[in-house]
Amino acid sequence: MSIGRRTFLQSALTVAATAGLSDRTSNAATPSSNAQQQMETGRQRVPRDRIDPWIEVDDRLLKANVKAIRQLTNNRSIVGVIKNNAYGLGLVATAKYLETLPEIVALAVVKVQSAIELREAGIKKPIHLMALFPKSAAKELAHHDIQPCLYSANALELVEPMYELLRRPVDVQVYVDTGMSRMGVPYRKALPWIEALAKSGTVSLQGAFMGFTEDAEFDREQLQRLQILAKEASQRGYNLGKLHAASSSAVFELPEAHLDFVRPGIAIFGGYPNDPVTQQKRARLQTAFSLKAQVVRVEQLQTGDSVSYGRNYIAEKPTWVATIPTGHTDGYPRKGVEGGRILIGSETYPVIGAVSASHTIVEVGAEKKVNVGDVATLMGSEHPEIDPNWLSSTTGVSVYDLFMHLNSSLPRYSA
Ligand SMILES: Cc1ncc(COP(=O)(O)O)c(C=O)c1O
Repeated sequence: MSIGRRTFLQSALTVAATAGLSDRTSNAATPSSNAQQQMETGRQRVPRDRIDPWIEVDDRLLKANVKAIRQLTNNRSIVGVIKNNAYGLGLVATAKYLETLPEIVALAVVKVQSAIELREAGIKKPIHLMALFPKSAAKELAHHDIQPCLYSANALELVEPMYELLRRPVDVQVYVDTGMSRMGVPYRKALPWIEALAKSGTVSLQGAFMGFTEDAEFDREQLQRLQILAKEASQRGYNLGKLHAASSSAVFELPEAHLDFVRPGIAIFGGYPNDPVTQQKRARLQTAFSLKAQVVRVEQLQTGDSVSYGRNYIAEKPTWVATIPTGHTDGYPRKGVEGGRILIGSETYPVIGAVSASHTIVEVGAEKKVNVGDVATLMGSEHPEIDPNWLSSTTGVSVYDLFMHLNSSLPRYSA
């Protein structure tokens, strides 16, 4: 989604100023709240002398985003989707923090390995696995009390080992395909399939869920398909349990889809799922991570000097440039060169030349306002111009990619 850069920036600045956030620094937490947070999540503070890129996560912003989602959904309970390394913020530490929030009733992932990793790390709240699992993993999932979703023709065969281990009906979620054609039992086939599950006595239906195509008109039809299925099942004496459908987009756009639970991902982390200009007027989300590194080189270019691969930038007059040792393999998008800016001190500077695998260069201008060792923030919520929602709108890179492409090998520290 491409939006006017100026429009987003103006409204972001207004909202930030209203919320008193425009001068927030990454070290604003009080020592005691930080100590508490480190205890809960295991995240450490960034070492003072770190040069290589790192990611800081601000749990206070996660909490504020969860509150914003609650306000939008008339206090619905939240199944927090933390797929893909918790949208880049770090799976285990993020889960540890989110499970302390009473609004979060369960966490959801899409990989068997992630579900098990969460339990092994001590996560206690219900974990939904929104994915197909191999029969060989069934007992381990049961052992870890992970709630699988079922949708396939061999669903009963898959839960059999779980039933054997637990010696009671297995808590499951049913994934219904109402029009996405990606995952789930097709809604047309769902009723007899659910009937067979229920009659088997090996499962206990805890919930049924679906995903939206995020096509405004069709979403309503999809929702109806789920609701009709739930009604027909109930007429036959089968209760599907809690219904949930709304990911972040429907949290904002489709109140009738809020059902028993909502199931957002990106909004928890501060990303607007669709148009940030309109959505931020309804709820203020804040990007809960920052991508940072130290400046490693500052030099003055002479007129005619060029910058980076392809000589994409030629200095028209003497100008200072600064190099940040962070590139597209770390998660800063190649397209950052098309309008991206980076925060150093209290000012943002334009990205020039090319974003290479491990380096990004900014134009500092006629005066040397930046020094080697300064901390550069490439993305985050400390300034509207480095907010991934804004970077997305100016470069055309999906905000989902900006979150989820953060390199998983970078350390995650507490803000
Ligand atoms: C089944 C399901 N539900 C919910 C979500 C959360 O989506 P979003 O990040 O748009 O809120 C996802 C993410 O792709 C998903 O696959």
